[in-house]
Amino acid sequence: MTGGRRQKIRIARSQDPQPRRGAPPAAGPAPAADPGYFAPRPAALPGRLDGLRALTKPGVRGYPEVDAAQALLVQTMRKDRVRGDVLDLSAMGGLTGSLSGVTLRAVESSAAALRVLEAAGFDSQAAVPGDLLTTRWPERARTVALVLAGDRGNAYAQAQVAWAHACTPPGGTLYLAGDRDKGFDRYVRAAGNAFGAGETVARDGGMRVARLIRRPGPTPPFPDPEGYEAFGVKVVGLPGVFSASRPDKATTILLEHLAGLDLRGQAALDLGCGAGLIGAWAAARGAAVTLVDGDLQSVRSSQATLAASGLEGEVLHSDVDAALGERTFDLVLTNPPFHVGRGVVLDVAREFIAAAARRLRPGGTLYVVANEPLPYEAAMGTLGPVQELVRAGGFKVLAATRPG
Ligand SMILES: C[S@@+](CC[C@H](N)C(=O)[O-])C[C@H]1O[C@@H](n2cnc3c(N)ncnc32)[C@H](O)[C@@H]1O
Repeated sequence: MTGGRRQKIRIARSQDPQPRRGAPPAAGPAPAADPGYFAPRPAALPGRLDGLRALTKPGVRGYPEVDAAQALLVQTMRKDRVRGDVLDLSAMGGLTGSLSGVTLRAVESSAAALRVLEAAGFDSQAAVPGDLLTTRWPERARTVALVLAGDRGNAYAQAQVAWAHACTPPGGTLYLAGDRDKGFDRYVRAAGNAFGAGETVARDGGMRVARLIRRPGPTPPFPDPEGYEAFGVKVVGLPGVFSASRPDKATTILLEHLAGLDLRGQAALDLGCGAGLIGAWAAARGAAVTLVDGDLQSVRSSQATLAASGLEGEVLHSDVDAALGERTFDLVLTNPPFHVGRGVVLDVAREFIAAAARRLRPGGTLYVVANEPLPYEAAMGTLGPVQELVRAGGFKVLAATRPG
């Protein structure tokens, strides 16, 4: 993702190449047919998970493989011969559900993962830390699984631990996985204090798994939302949401540059809305706004931002534009996500641009802000001539207008 700080960006080859329109066929053996962004497909599993399976697609954590912490978690559960109902609070592609004798209750906040879980036929539920799951499953499962998203910040991991505690019945077991380099030991200590007993039982490289048994005792508090005021709107940043406590530098450059735009009566789409700053800014300037995010926590954050700012708008939980039905727009505004780790993976960002091309009315404009090295121009060029509106602080604002 674009962060407040400047980042070194190494662009990895896309795992899901999008052939350029009109490009000549490459020489050599024909590549496997690209199933397209939205199609679920089998995840690549390490040999030690032989006999298990999971689906995946671009946008699911770990794609095109399974997440390394989840792999170790499931390997540990298999060794422990876990059986029966398992509540997986970070189900991703449903790997836990392929354990023999396990009935999976799959919980996810990612719309991309929910699409995959549904395709695999799992009993799944969209939820975020703090949501009560007893309405959906009145009797709590004796086993709970959770992969800590340490990359989403301390507050989110704390909220995940509190949620896992609330979801585990006394005497029940929590399998907790995470990355040593993303604070795992600290979170296990916090979980151990709340649960009363537990220890790290598996290690593989930087990945760790702890097994905790819940003793009676209070659930730790959930962290409060953060937030800020900027561009005339009150942003509510829930734990784990992008740029929850201050406006992102790239987004600031975009909005400063677009200050002169007349948005009255325009239908605007904020694609990948996070805490909702861009969409709320457009609503405050008279646009009819739709905000979309693949992360349910971000959707809740954007809803809270609109409410706190006294603004109207619809906010949808959607893998890119999948939930948008027939809606079309006069403008699309976005600071697209990219994943830093083994480099930058641009599958989702490319699909954002493809979605803008599907959703823009004739004469409508796509505005994108991105770190300077990110190569969005070619994809945007399929929409119309690309203009670089500004280049500042390591970022660029690009615009492409669909011919009227
Ligand atoms: C760089 S952040 C920008 C957030 C916000 N617009 C801002 O400027 O602060 C990108 C956003 O895209 C969202 N996102 C990532 N993958 C997505 C997907 N497949 N579909 C929709 N949104 C996605 C992330 O959850 C995140 O909120």
